[in-house]
Amino acid sequence: MPLQEPVLTKRIPTPPFGDFSQRKLISYEDFVATGGYVGLKKAIDMQPSDIIDTMKASELRGRGGAGFPAGVKWSFLPPQDGKPRYLAVNSDESEPGTFKDRMLLDFDPHILLEGIAICMRACQLDTTYIYIRGEYHHQAKVLNAAIDEAYANNIFGPNSIMGKINDREPRCFVHRGAGAYICGEETALLNSLEGKRGWPRIKPPFPAVAGAFGRPTIINNVETLAMCGPIIDRGVDWFKTMGVARPEGVPPHVPASYGPKLIGVSGHVNRPGVYEENLGITVREMIEKYCGGMRNGKKFKSAVPGGIAMGVLGTDQIDAPLDFDIGRNFGCLGLGTAGVIVMDEDTDMVAMARNVVRFFSHESCGQCTPCREGSNWVYKTLKRIEEGNGTTADLDLLLEVSGSQGAMPGTTICGLADGTNWAIKTFLNKFWDDFESRVKPSKIAGYSLPVLV
Ligand SMILES: Cc1cc2nc3c(=O)[nH]c(=O)nc-3n(C[C@H](O)[C@H](O)[C@H](O)COP(=O)(O)O)c2cc1C
Ligand code: SF4
Repeated sequence: MPLQEPVLTKRIPTPPFGDFSQRKLISYEDFVATGGYVGLKKAIDMQPSDIIDTMKASELRGRGGAGFPAGVKWSFLPPQDGKPRYLAVNSDESEPGTFKDRMLLDFDPHILLEGIAICMRACQLDTTYIYIRGEYHHQAKVLNAAIDEAYANNIFGPNSIMGKINDREPRCFVHRGAGAYICGEETALLNSLEGKRGWPRIKPPFPAVAGAFGRPTIINNVETLAMCGPIIDRGVDWFKTMGVARPEGVPPHVPASYGPKLIGVSGHVNRPGVYEENLGITVREMIEKYCGGMRNGKKFKSAVPGGIAMGVLGTDQIDAPLDFDIGRNFGCLGLGTAGVIVMDEDTDMVAMARNVVRFFSHESCGQCTPCREGSNWVYKTLKRIEEGNGTTADLDLLLEVSGSQGAMPGTTICGLADGTNWAIKTFLNKFWDDFESRVKPSKIAGYSLPVLV
């Protein structure tokens, strides 16, 4: 069933409920006048543990890429010990094809601030750092102004309606990054926040136990937190009327795909943009219903389901539902950020793969050999093929390198290497002919590996 009413875009006019041209920045007064901060007021009347239980029952899954259930993450915190505890908001949003958090920050910053306050209350976190990507100059300004409004209206600060947390006044700061993709990985984000080089940390310990400055820290994406106010205000049953329920026979501890989702569509469509729909809408429906169809009437060739780290869908997978099971069901890494990049029939898949791998190779932080060396090898190999100098041995090499990166889970510190690997694997597996037609036969006898599935 399609979304019946806008939730995250309630105040951000978006087709089919409104028109892009009517969008404007929502002030504190506008937000309150349209039901904002009601969820926070309800949360203040609840015990912190009840708020966490409600979030757990909602099965809200993280919207930053990994899809981990927010309430479960919140329950991992150790008991309070009177010392500081932090919330780090992941507003790095550097994944190519992903621009959904930016829309919330551009127009409705208080929906994020309400979610932040609810999380602080639930998890008893006294200080929030919103880590925002370096290039988001305008959004950082908007956020700072909204935070000032929130202080002036006692959401945060010495007279906060939440009272003191850990015997401290609840505080909220914006921390600007310097434009590195890797700083979106949660532990690299923490290092960057601490003023160190933005390198991912080995886990465990997980941030909930030892995060920012060695203290318990919750890290959540902007959209995840923005969903908290509506859930606390309107309840778990309401939230679960949207999205995809758990299929029969799947045990209850496996989270489903409930709720609405911001879906950013770019590429070869007539009307790219960020739209809100229930999880489970198909790629075809997004293109036809929201994006005005394929640009210039061309045929669909492929789409990235959610940021390029997730790999690509095949031409016959246009009816793939955008939910958290898309990875398992359609041979890609996952839903990721639901930043869909649509490619038409004229797309050069070799050039596209080369461009994707160039990005990952450039953004690799260099700590792990398979990621640092492997991504650069793959980039050079793809470039060779694109320029017409590749051989079938290069295709074998690509399969071998991508297979080794993925075949050794745990050999790299963070998921960037998996993103590179899934991108290459899916490009090759789903568009083999495009690659094979660009190479010459290899002179290396007997060098051939099976195609990975
Ligand atoms: C290389 C890499 C880049 C990432 N970039 C982002 C990002 O820009 N924004 C984000 O929210 N999560 C990003 N993540 C996921 C975070 O590590 C983390 O899972 C997320 O912030 C948790 O929030 P959530 O549970 O609310 O989704 C990235 C992960 C990896 C491996
Ligand atoms: S996988 Fe890549 S980006 Fe991640 S820590 Fe290792 S080298 Fe750095």
